Amino acid sequence: MKKSKTEKVSNTSPKYNIVFISPEVAPFSKFGGLADVSWALPRALKRLGHNVKIIMPKFGSIDDEKFGIKAYKQNLKVPTADKDIVCNVKIGYIPDGLEVYLIENMEYYEMRANVYGYKDDARRFALLSKGALELIRSQKWQVDIIHSNDWMTGYVSNYLKTEYKLDPILNKAASVFTIHNLALQGVNRRTLTQTQIDQGTSPLPDLLDDDIFFVNGMLRGIVYSDFVNTVSERYAKEILTPEYGEGMDKILQEMRNKLVGIRNGVDYDVLNPRVDKNIYVNYDLGDIEKKKENKIAFQKEFDLVIDPAIPLVGFVGRLSEQKGLGLLHDTIRPLLANLNFQFVIVGGGDEYWEKFFAKLIKDFPGKVNGYLMISTTFAQKLYAACDILVHPSKFEPCGITHAIAMRYGTVPIVRETGGLADSVIDYGKDRKNGDGFMFKEFNEMAFLIQLVSALTTFKSNKREWKKIQSRSMRKDLSWNASAVKYIDLYEKAIDRHVKWLKKEGLVMADSPVEVPGYSSIDILS
Ligand code: GLC
Repeated sequence: MKKSKTEKVSNTSPKYNIVFISPEVAPFSKFGGLADVSWALPRALKRLGHNVKIIMPKFGSIDDEKFGIKAYKQNLKVPTADKDIVCNVKIGYIPDGLEVYLIENMEYYEMRANVYGYKDDARRFALLSKGALELIRSQKWQVDIIHSNDWMTGYVSNYLKTEYKLDPILNKAASVFTIHNLALQGVNRRTLTQTQIDQGTSPLPDLLDDDIFFVNGMLRGIVYSDFVNTVSERYAKEILTPEYGEGMDKILQEMRNKLVGIRNGVDYDVLNPRVDKNIYVNYDLGDIEKKKENKIAFQKEFDLVIDPAIPLVGFVGRLSEQKGLGLLHDTIRPLLANLNFQFVIVGGGDEYWEKFFAKLIKDFPGKVNGYLMISTTFAQKLYAACDILVHPSKFEPCGITHAIAMRYGTVPIVRETGGLADSVIDYGKDRKNGDGFMFKEFNEMAFLIQLVSALTTFKSNKREWKKIQSRSMRKDLSWNASAVKYIDLYEKAIDRHVKWLKKEGLVMADSPVEVPGYSSIDILS
């Protein structure tokens, strides 16, 4: 059924050649949710019949042998004001035969153990941005869409609209930029003086010029791209306000006619308790009682008191303020001391929070445990085992753990923000359709009320709990609908791009076909 729907869409829409540029792509390198989106979205687009090539850096930590990565091109020259930076390009494949092109450079990628966190990150990612464009030109790829992601590739659209605007290959492509997290911009605005703050319109400094460190990559992506999106509809609206705008709300308001929100999906081929190889026992809605076996096995593995009647509450994700951990800070201890539930955590990040949870684990043996590092295996075991997952973010462009948890019948407690608000129906407000618990104000009381309400429903109203659980498991938060929305976004981007070409005199106003080989021109007719 699903398949024929997909086929229908792909038969009627134009087929696009898309280049997707990202600093991290799972499984090659993964730091956060961006890595998952960077393979799952291209895959969903490919399944709709489009051609997608992915470009990323070849970080030192990526193992050629493990992933079957091979040489593709030697001596890709990336020009700068004084000299060319010479890169090699490798190729690897991720599921569904998607091609990933890895830009190799000893100094900027190979010799660095980590993906991010270096003083010259802006230069490293400007190199990725420019290197990707040089790769497209050198191989003469016919590209309709160049899709870049977050501040690290925000330079791409800036280059396209300036340095490369006369390039006959590159100027055929429309640019799309996705904001995964507006808070990260490639510069620390707080340390800059007023005159150093990037307004987004000055010429982009040469990548070897130290002024590149003052460039706000996020802003450049927003200003110069033909179309921009965030990873949920709610976040696209929130960032127009000072509360969520990260200093860019005004400029985003000016750009609102080229800004939309598209929620990220979950890959149910992998993240699905029916097929998941990482969990203890497979199950689905029809044999949901087997979820209990996962809980018991997890309690055993994590030295918790073994009793399926005790509610198991979990948290998965980056340990950072953004995730709303502040709401647990003063509440979790009295709660654990007074209520009979267990708390488990899988995730790593800020040292402060790692220490906080390590101490909590020590102080509540049998009641609290976890794995304080990012681990997909333990995360999946946790989704299968838990009854409740907490995701109380301060802000959340999309968020994924609550959506995965829902497929595993683990009921989410979320804050009403960003993608969380777009994907959960609050049981408190809607008893018939509720598939989770949601609170609005970012304060401890609001969070506590929902936690206690969920624990009470779990303990004393098994029938209702089962209904909430079934609704969350049945919810379709897959990529299917979202990938189709990206195609719509690409069409809009092409439309705006053609207008820009005309404005710049790069194509004659009444005859767009003047740009030779412009492969998307037919969509104008
Ligand atoms: C960022 C956001 C998160 C989103 C992810 C993928 O990590 O914080 O909300 O799910 O990007 O788009």
